Amino acid sequence: MLTLLPPEIEDYAFRHTRAEPRELVELEALTHARMRDPQMLTGRVEGRFLKLLALLVRPRLVVEVGTFTGYSALSMAEALDDGARLITCDIDPQAAEVARAAFAQSAHGRKIELRLGPALETIAGITEPIDLSFIDADKTAYPEYYEALLARTRPGGVLVLDNMLQSGRVLAPKDAAARAIHGLNERIARDERVENVLLAVRDGVQLVVKR
Ligand SMILES: C[S@@+](CC[C@H](N)C(=O)[O-])C[C@H]1O[C@@H](n2cnc3c(N)ncnc32)[C@H](O)[C@@H]1O
Repeated sequence: MLTLLPPEIEDYAFRHTRAEPRELVELEALTHARMRDPQMLTGRVEGRFLKLLALLVRPRLVVEVGTFTGYSALSMAEALDDGARLITCDIDPQAAEVARAAFAQSAHGRKIELRLGPALETIAGITEPIDLSFIDADKTAYPEYYEALLARTRPGGVLVLDNMLQSGRVLAPKDAAARAIHGLNERIARDERVENVLLAVRDGVQLVVKR
């Protein structure tokens, strides 16, 4: 992923964001050692941002689309009260195995349920109102994830969508992912059902609140 800000500004933001716990530092190192595309992991700044959102929303139910090795799920789970749950899903068995091991070692892992399978199937199986969701999987399906999650989100609930600037490719979208994300940004900005702000954090984060 191309960084949108000058590297020294990214570094400054990293150094002035609260450090993540040791278990996440170790998970990031393990991900780099064992996985292809380790840069998919959200990392400190976005992980702490997700934790802060969870502290503000105080969700009973969080849904995540795209577990990978579990970094963002564990970041949000840190902020969950007893009795609150996070459902996360992924289609990659190897990533799920790493995530399951990380959840088993963490004090927060018991709050997380990992479902191996396509996200739309996982979302379709959720019947309780969702308070917070994080979309971070295959980009061309984001419009479907957005609609399916919004329909299940309580009024006042929050949706967070990652990679909404596609390393800048949304400005002149040529590939399928950039076209899908640009189309969704246009749709969200006019969606009467929500309030939103597109934050230029990392690769672009859409922060959406359902009315
Ligand atoms: C960017 S990574 C997620 C990173 C993760 N949120 C983190 O912070 O470490 C995207 C993940 O989405 C998963 N994915 C792709 N298509 C999917 C689908 N249809 N349903 C569920 N997960 C999918 C991939 O296997 C990959 O692990």
